[in-house]
Amino acid sequence: MSRTVYVNGQYLPEEQATVSIFDRGFLMADGVYEVTTVLDGKLVSFDGHAQRLERSLGELDMAAPCTNDELLEIHRELVRLNEIDQGLIYLQVTRGAADRDFAYPEDAEPTLVMFTQNKPGLADSPAAKKGAKVIAIDDIRWGRRDIKTVQLLYPSMGKMMAKAKGCDDAWLVEDGKVTEGTSNNAYIIKGNKIITRELSTDILHGITREAVLRFAREAQMEVEERAFTIAEAQAADEAFTTSASAFVMPVVEVEGVTMGDGTPGAATWRLREIYIEESRKSAI
Ligand code: PDD
Repeated sequence: MSRTVYVNGQYLPEEQATVSIFDRGFLMADGVYEVTTVLDGKLVSFDGHAQRLERSLGELDMAAPCTNDELLEIHRELVRLNEIDQGLIYLQVTRGAADRDFAYPEDAEPTLVMFTQNKPGLADSPAAKKGAKVIAIDDIRWGRRDIKTVQLLYPSMGKMMAKAKGCDDAWLVEDGKVTEGTSNNAYIIKGNKIITRELSTDILHGITREAVLRFAREAQMEVEERAFTIAEAQAADEAFTTSASAFVMPVVEVEGVTMGDGTPGAATWRLREIYIEESRKSAI
């Protein structure tokens, strides 16, 4: 059965949904995106995603396609039309269609595209029970990783480099320190302390990161926001990543070194459970 997707004011079967070949998202990667989780048919951290979208748009002088209330309505309508219980909603805004030019067009209307991805096993993921193996690669992305742009080629290449080595993901390393994962924020645990890179333009300010650090503090864990090396990660007790699409994902191998006994760490697993439980409670 085909999905119903949203394009510029219309709900359409996916086969009928189109955007212009002149769209700047297509030609220049001149667009930003958000991925919001659906649990029990409700949206997790919608306000956080809407606020980050506003910030991404603002940093690029890009017009908002509609109000946040309208965005919420479209999210809910897509969940309803596609009968999503667990899954994701992808949202992309581009600067719109205009004759190709490096300068921003003056009169283009923003493009808004949204679609759902049905993922029935999201909360009870076999991949999470197994844990992820990560490799380390150089972080050669541009310097504004705090803006959630659709320039995802290098993260995509990173996943392929990981796959080629029989691993699941890559951690990106700059000046000897881990910035983040290809599509997630990166953490290690040593004793009662969680260590993750501080917020800056070097990383995406994860919505899941914010929630997980809050829950960790509430659970009396210590949180240290600073950069760490791959060697420090390999010597840590546990490691994990966070993202809207994988929640708290245990990491069981870092660049060839097995973490603990090679199964998800206990503190990581507890954080995953708290995150899912709290997200269920606060979803709208
Ligand atoms: N990725 N860092 C990067 C580079 C990301 O692409 C993401 C999210 C995160 C985590 O952010 P959040 O917790 O808000 O999802 C960190 C999404 C899920 C994606 O591209 O599919």
